[in-house]
Amino acid sequence: MSNTGAGIVVIGSGSAAPTTLLNNDQLSQVVETSDEWIATRTGIRARRLVGPEGSLSAIASQAAQQAITMAGLTAQDIDLIVLATSTPDDLFGTAGKIQGEIGATRAVAFDLTAACSGFVFGLVTVAQFLRTGVYRNAVLIGADVLSRWVDWSDRGTCVLFGDGAGAVVLQRTEERDRLLGFELCSDGSLNHTLNLAYQGTAHPLTSDVTISQGQYQPITMNGREIYRFAVAKVPEVISKSLFRAQLTVEDLDWLLLHQANQRIMDAVAQRLKLPPEKVLSNLAKYGNTSAASIPLALDEAVREGKVKAGDKIAIAGFGAGLNWGAAIIEWGLV
Ligand code: UT7
Repeated sequence: MSNTGAGIVVIGSGSAAPTTLLNNDQLSQVVETSDEWIATRTGIRARRLVGPEGSLSAIASQAAQQAITMAGLTAQDIDLIVLATSTPDDLFGTAGKIQGEIGATRAVAFDLTAACSGFVFGLVTVAQFLRTGVYRNAVLIGADVLSRWVDWSDRGTCVLFGDGAGAVVLQRTEERDRLLGFELCSDGSLNHTLNLAYQGTAHPLTSDVTISQGQYQPITMNGREIYRFAVAKVPEVISKSLFRAQLTVEDLDWLLLHQANQRIMDAVAQRLKLPPEKVLSNLAKYGNTSAASIPLALDEAVREGKVKAGDKIAIAGFGAGLNWGAAIIEWGLV
C-alpha cells in the first residue's frame, strides 16, 4: 500500500505551550489530591494552562510557524492546513484564523475532530491529499485547550489534562513514501465513556416549533474503562500498522504514544516487547494535551537530537469517540 507512486515525507516540526505552569502541589490546593498520587498513578508532574488572554490559535500558530521554518519553507509555500482539535476558539473552525495569523494566504484550512486520536487521523487525512497529487506542502497541527472544559472540582479528571500545540510539515515526494503503514479504528458503542457533550434545554420559538439551546458540559470520563481500552487496543493497532508496513517491532527506533498516562505507555511497550528506552515521553511536564500530545513530544525529541532523519517511529493515538489509530512513519529526508 505504501508504494503506489507519490508519497509523503515529514520535513519539519514545531510546538508551543502556554507559559503558565500548574504543578501537582499547586493542584492539591484546588482538589483533594497529592503529587504522590498523581505521579504514581499517571506519571504527570505539571501541566501548562492557557490564561484568559491566550487562545488556541495563538499557540497553534506558533507551532505551525516553527514547523514551517524547520522545513525551510515560508507560509506562502503551504497549500493545506489541517488543525486537529476538539477545543476550537470558534465552533465554525479555528484553522482559518491560523491561516490568517501565519499569512499562509494560498492555503485551504479546516478543522478535524477526533479528540486524542486527532493527530494520527489528521496525518492519514493529509497524506491522502499529498499522495493523490492535489497538494504539495501541508501543515498538520494538533492543538487543544482542554483546561477550558475540565471540571476543576473533579479530581478524577482535572489532574490529567493540560494545554499545548504541536505541528508538522508534510511534503509530497515522488520518491519513497515515508508513511509506511497505518490503521484507524472507531467504536461508537463506547462513546459514553469519554465526553465533552452538548446539553440543551427546550426553547419554544412558536406554538409548534421548539428548538434546543444550551452549552457544552465539562469533560466526563470512566477512567478505568479508558485505561483498559487503551492497553488492549493500542498494541493491536500498532501491530496491524507494522504488518501493513511489512515491518516488525525490531525495525522501530521509537514508540510515540498519545501522552495520557505513563502506565499506559509502559504497558503498551511491554506488550509489544519494546525496551523502555525506545519510548518517547514528555507527559511529566505537560499532562495529557489531547491532539497536541504526539506532535509536542515529537518536536521536543527532534530538537533534542533524539529523533534523526531515517528513524522509524510508531505513533498511536486513542481516546474519545472512541477512536484509536496508529501510523508508522520514517522521519525526515535522508
Ligand atoms: O486521552 C485519553 C484520556 N483518558 C485517559 O487516558 C484515562 C485513562 N485512565 C487513567 O489514566 C486512570 O484510570 C486514572 C489515572 C484516571 C485513575 O487511576 P486509577 O488507578 O484507575 O484510579 P481509580 O479511578 O480506580 O481510583 C482509585 C482511588 C479511588 O479511591 P477509592 O475509591 O479507592 O477510595 C479514587 O477516589 O483513587 C481515588 N482518586 C484520587 N485520589 C487522589 C481518584 N483521583 C484521585 C486524585 N487524587 N486525583
